[in-house]
Amino acid sequence: MFKVLITGAQGQVGSELLKSAPGSMTPIGLGSNELDICQPHQISAAIAQHQPNLIINAAAYTAVDAAQSNSDAAFAVNAQGVQWLAQAAKAVNIPVFHLSTDYVFDGQAQQPYIETDLPNPGNVYGASKLAGEHALIHTHHKHIIVRTSWVFGSTGQNFVKTILRLATQHAELSVVADQYGCPTSARSIAQALWQLAQRYATDGHLAWGLYHFSNGPACTWHHFADHILTQALTQGVLDTKPVIQAITTEQYPTTAPRPAWSVLSNQKIEHLLQTQPIQWQDQLSELLAHPIDLSQ
Ligand SMILES: NC(=O)c1ccc[n+]([C@@H]2O[C@H](COP(=O)([O-])OP(=O)(O)OC[C@H]3O[C@@H](n4cnc5c(N)ncnc54)[C@H](OP(=O)(O)O)[C@@H]3O)[C@@H](O)[C@H]2O)c1
Repeated sequence: MFKVLITGAQGQVGSELLKSAPGSMTPIGLGSNELDICQPHQISAAIAQHQPNLIINAAAYTAVDAAQSNSDAAFAVNAQGVQWLAQAAKAVNIPVFHLSTDYVFDGQAQQPYIETDLPNPGNVYGASKLAGEHALIHTHHKHIIVRTSWVFGSTGQNFVKTILRLATQHAELSVVADQYGCPTSARSIAQALWQLAQRYATDGHLAWGLYHFSNGPACTWHHFADHILTQALTQGVLDTKPVIQAITTEQYPTTAPRPAWSVLSNQKIEHLLQTQPIQWQDQLSELLAHPIDLSQ
């Protein structure tokens, strides 16, 4: 059996990895209470106990605004924690699949970012994630880094759940209409990671390196919010649809600046996996087809 150790197993992507593991894979999901990636002895103990063939790191410090004033905490998990994982994996010669973010870019581009574009993070979270990429790249060559964006799913905090919750409380919402990106379901990320894992399990190797993965097409937060509410109304999740006003980033200042453009090109991973683009609208309808807990 091919064993895959999953860190951050209670997060959005971690929990989808556990739910969607193919029959040929044995997932071993550990939450932050069972494996803290900032504790190297916990990593070695987990590897010794479970003898995994691969590690998928879904653990991260993801509080983008809080990171601005908690830089040490963000770097401890997103950079140093990744370094510890990379060293431990290298010691037993198993690969690490790791997730990173569109926020490594400054958002000044006008076309989808490809993997060779120069990162230039505009906030602490993005800088800590970029440092994590570098830590992995420089420590252990058997790695896959998947940068993704605007993640949504049934577990944890995300934009879809926030908008649905606000819709039950307000008749009018204001949403930013000048930031462009690609909403991406946690489930589709998990499925792409499993495809990569299966490829490695079968072939014994992979084209190691950095990949971008998101759903399409690109849209603004305003467009995304509008579609979430229309779809929720259609699928009976909401009884009424609030009015949504389009506002500018200037009108909605956040502690951490966000890139105006964080659209990722998927060409490299689609070529590797021979897959077609995935529409976030389809992923959203699938999510809304099941009961969704808006309280967490
Ligand atoms: N969310 C997005 O929109 C987005 C966008 C682009 C990229 N990404 C990247 O995608 C990956 C997955 O994100 P996600 O949305 O699934 O994040 P998430 O829901 O916040 O989950 C992250 C998980 O990591 C755990 N964690 C935090 N510190 C840890 C530590 N020291 N050791 C072990 N586990 C720890 C958290 O546990 P606790 O809750 O117990 O702390 C949480 O369960 C991350 O690498 C993130 O940077 C996310």
